[in-house]
Amino acid sequence: MNEKTLILLKPDAVERNLIGKILSEYERNGLTINDMKYMTASKEITETHYAEHKGKPFFNRLVCYLTRSPIVAVVVAGDNAVSRVRALNGTTNPADSGDNTIRALYGISLSENTVHSSDSVESAKRERAIWFN
Ligand code: PPS
Repeated sequence: MNEKTLILLKPDAVERNLIGKILSEYERNGLTINDMKYMTASKEITETHYAEHKGKPFFNRLVCYLTRSPIVAVVVAGDNAVSRVRALNGTTNPADSGDNTIRALYGISLSENTVHSSDSVESAKRERAIWFN
């Protein structure tokens, strides 16, 4: 099924000039960039995006990290885009991520794991509305 999903190239990706390399991974795997925005995320939009994690011990660290320097918000489209992008990105902790996943290749740590992507079609809809209102 054709789907759209939301990806964030997080500050550590932009700071290390990895935008092109990471986006080319999605394109190389047959996904299409549908919308894209270079921006510095506000605390407000970041807290809305990660609302389900509010109260967790890492929440404040996560918001500080996301807002410290520019990010790129991207909408990617294609057949089963949500699960395909999750597979390309790898698991949350880069140390456990499968070989050749984006997080295994470029992730620094659990706190600075380079990319975000929506975890379901419903989250993708919600997150696209937040970043591309
Ligand atoms: S949870 O608690 O299992 O639902 O969390 P998870 O889905 O693995 O991660 C949710 C997002 O929080 C980030 N995260 C962290 N940031 C900093 N420190 C720690 N310890 C930490 N643990 C999780 C993680 O990168 C996820 O961000 P996204 O952007 O959704 O990948």
